[in-house]
Amino acid sequence: MSQNASQSKRLFFALWPTAAEQQRFSEIALQASTSDSNRLVAAHRLHLTLSFLGSVDAATEVCARHVADTLAWQPFSLNIDRLGWFARPKVLWAGCTTIAPALANLVATLQEGMMRCSVNVDTRPFRPHITLARKVGTAPAQEKLNVVTCHFNEFSLVESRPERNGVCYETLARWPARVNHA
Ligand code: 2AM
Repeated sequence: MSQNASQSKRLFFALWPTAAEQQRFSEIALQASTSDSNRLVAAHRLHLTLSFLGSVDAATEVCARHVADTLAWQPFSLNIDRLGWFARPKVLWAGCTTIAPALANLVATLQEGMMRCSVNVDTRPFRPHITLARKVGTAPAQEKLNVVTCHFNEFSLVESRPERNGVCYETLARWPARVNHA
């Protein structure tokens, strides 16, 4: 591995549901799974990505952490009330029928900050989702979910590392909600 590759980290900002909420999503994934070949995401890995940075160097990580340090945002709740399916990556997900303004603001501010850090951010419209299973070849029979309400009062910076059986996520830092009184 080159020196640069060994120093770079694959990072993303995410919301991490509680263990009880993750368990609930795991049960939903199992119920909605359409075949034995679906790869269910392990409960403790279930999360909602706010901003995917990709592989970045140490200076970019410092910049990203600084953006997160200075970000003002209010805690919020999300009603996870629907299933969805991304056809091309064959991903089954759980998400929201409507995007809470607090979530949209948090993502927009983070993404602006990542652009200032020269991160090549995804400019497609944000579609909040929790990936439940991969290798899912068909859309879920039913989109509607019994709503799972998740309350978020912190977000995290997470490193994704390849592992023998997939990926391992390590939380590097957490930022609690912080209202800017200035
Ligand atoms: P996904 O759940 O839809 O795969 C770590 O890979 C996290 O970053 C995952 O939640 C993944 O979303 C998200 N992500 C967003 N864009 C990505 C990309 N281009 N490649 C890999 N992961 C991406």
